Amino acid sequence: MPAETPAQTQTPPRQPQPKTFHVKSFGCQMNVYDGERMAELLAAQGMTASDERDGADLVVLNTCHIREKATEKVYSDIGRLRRADGSTPLIAVAGCVAQAEGEEIMARAPSVKVVVGPQAYHRLPEMVADAAAGKSGTETDMPAEAKFAALPKRRRSGPSAFLTVQEGCDKFCTYCVVPYTRGAEISRPFADLVEEARLLVAGGAREITLLGQNVNAWAGQDDKGRAIGLDGLIRVLAADPDLARIRYTTSHPNDMSEGLIAAHGEIDKLMPFLHLPVQAGNDRVLKAMNRSHTVESYLKILDRVRAARPDIALSGDFIVGFPGETEAEFQDTLDLVGQVRHAQAFSFKYSPRPGTPAATMDGQIAAEVMDERLQRLQAALTRDATAFNQASVGRRCQVLVERRGRHEGQWLGKSPWLQSVHFTGEAAIGDLVTVDLVQAGPNSLAGQLVG
Ligand code: 5AD
Ligand code: SF4
Repeated sequence: MPAETPAQTQTPPRQPQPKTFHVKSFGCQMNVYDGERMAELLAAQGMTASDERDGADLVVLNTCHIREKATEKVYSDIGRLRRADGSTPLIAVAGCVAQAEGEEIMARAPSVKVVVGPQAYHRLPEMVADAAAGKSGTETDMPAEAKFAALPKRRRSGPSAFLTVQEGCDKFCTYCVVPYTRGAEISRPFADLVEEARLLVAGGAREITLLGQNVNAWAGQDDKGRAIGLDGLIRVLAADPDLARIRYTTSHPNDMSEGLIAAHGEIDKLMPFLHLPVQAGNDRVLKAMNRSHTVESYLKILDRVRAARPDIALSGDFIVGFPGETEAEFQDTLDLVGQVRHAQAFSFKYSPRPGTPAATMDGQIAAEVMDERLQRLQAALTRDATAFNQASVGRRCQVLVERRGRHEGQWLGKSPWLQSVHFTGEAAIGDLVTVDLVQAGPNSLAGQLVG
């Protein structure tokens, strides 16, 4: 007989089991994918999704820990969930802040009753039920294998769907929390991915973006037991006649295999777009970041990708103000940008993250210096994005229609180069239409429907 549990002096408050829920995802596309899967899990329990978080019985904040600002957003969001009468919905914190901070979140924000990390969210419905019955819980187990098996099958999808194929990171860049919050690199099995892609297409997807923190490190075995990489997976998915487009993100330069580069020249459905973060344009800084590639090796990869697919649109991530970065070293980043001419890029001020080696390095850069460098870098990146879009004017291309625009009869979709294109005319969400690109700005293009 198990020992009796001691009588509790205080009965924890009970809340009715939630009937409606709202999931809010912050941060990267993998979080968007996780947010969709959590919504599917909760819906499978009979709960109803609500577009508005005000009024939802359960609010899931699917958080991002990559930079300090992203983390702080969570706490201000928790505060904002308090209703006029002082009550709160049942609050669950999921994602990378949950992983990194665990139970501390409940200490700092007692209205949070569930804390669940990115590899454990298959347990969310059970934890929500426990919390409603008065038993708060934290679950930050890794790795992710059990999670995917426990998720419900995909049913409906928008025209452009995400599919996580790989999770985690073994690269340990010295500034980055991902290896700690998402754990070691794992690849989902080939058969599971083929099945999930098939269900997404059956549910309405025309385009699938394969996701992973290091998506091009994906490795698996095909149905004949042969070892394949991401290019092999893409080839198999491309054989589905109802799937029109494939993309993948985010890649690491060191995992850009010959096969994947060649795939860009050989598979029509693989869109001409590559997000390949370089972070900085100076080898000393790259070494201090533990990036394990150099400026030269990165440029060589781009040459090979461009040889395979001359119209490829290049994208990247940059960090300014890494500890010790001198003005001359930052200038090297500007020079690299000037050389590559990205179609688009993301740039960030370095943000020290607890537990990462860079956070305690000498030479932390003053905020004003970072601000000024970021401004200069963003001016250069905006210049290049605008030029890329302007150079597209006159092109005829296919646009995948994703949603209605703000104006009557207007539609919004994406070009093969991931540009936002708006146009008016006869169309429907999910159509692939032919348009002539007629006008360009830094963030979008106007198209004219052909035929
Ligand atoms: N500070 C600033 N930017 C960061 N990134 C990752 N960690 C940090 C950090 N500590 C950026 C990198 C990465 C992108 C997802 O976020 O550029 O590629
Ligand atoms: Fe972070 Fe580097 Fe891994 Fe990217 S490759 S997730 S920046 S550690």
